[in-house]
Amino acid sequence: MSESLPIVPRHVAIIMDGNGRWAAQHGEPRHQGHRAGAESVRQAVETCARAGVDALTLFAFSSENWRRPAAEVSMLMELFLRVLDRESERLNRNGIRLNVIGDRERFSQRLQQRCASAEQLTQGNARMQLNIAASYGGRWDIAQAARQLAADVAAGKRSLESIDEAALGEQVCLHHLPEPDLFVRTGGEQRISNFMLWQLAYTELYFTPVLWPDFDSDQMQAALTWFSQRERRFGGLGHSGEDAHPDA
Ligand code: IPE
Ligand code: IPE
Ligand code: MG
Repeated sequence: MSESLPIVPRHVAIIMDGNGRWAAQHGEPRHQGHRAGAESVRQAVETCARAGVDALTLFAFSSENWRRPAAEVSMLMELFLRVLDRESERLNRNGIRLNVIGDRERFSQRLQQRCASAEQLTQGNARMQLNIAASYGGRWDIAQAARQLAADVAAGKRSLESIDEAALGEQVCLHHLPEPDLFVRTGGEQRISNFMLWQLAYTELYFTPVLWPDFDSDQMQAALTWFSQRERRFGGLGHSGEDAHPDA
């Protein structure tokens, strides 16, 4: 029998958690943890791209993270801007397309412009799509999708009867990509924290106690290897039975 190829997730979604605890462990202020975390982003992007992952979505800042002290919020926004400036060219050279998802209207004008120009610079790339979820919440995502459908009904562009799971699924963020196959959360917490609630319905969930700044290429590779050993059933019987049509 020929050796089967490793199963690579098409879409990986990561909650990059544990920067603050990493800083505390090192006797440093929290912002040093966020800075160190930026280096892990580069390693995760490179490892996924090399493995043949089509899309990587990174949770950088949640809808609820706006509740943090103003100094931490503005430091994170400034870091986001600086990393965009510093990394856009490298991403472009590496064939990576950047996309920012979330409630961008809450960003400063300056950050909104930088997001738009990084997206524009990289829009022709097809090796891997990198989505940064910032000012993003799964509930915000579902609510904006519902609002869009309601607006279409009100404008007479669609009927009420046409609203079903598929219609809503076409309005949530990243609907043009396959839903995440693999979810990773670093930092030891085993919760979703309002990440992609709609899109994670059948995603494989991988939790690791490793803090995000310590999550390197080997750690990323270990998560990809774990994924390749999962048997996914999507409510059917998987290998052990002949399933009916997947959409049945
Ligand atoms: C994740 O690290 C980064 C963001 C949420 C912006 P945290 O800042 O949540 O770090 P911990 O969880 O306090 O260690
Ligand atoms: C989730 O981490 C959000 C990001 C990593 C961007 P949090 O640190 O905000 O989550 P909770 O508060 O521990 O659930
Ligand atoms: Mg945290």
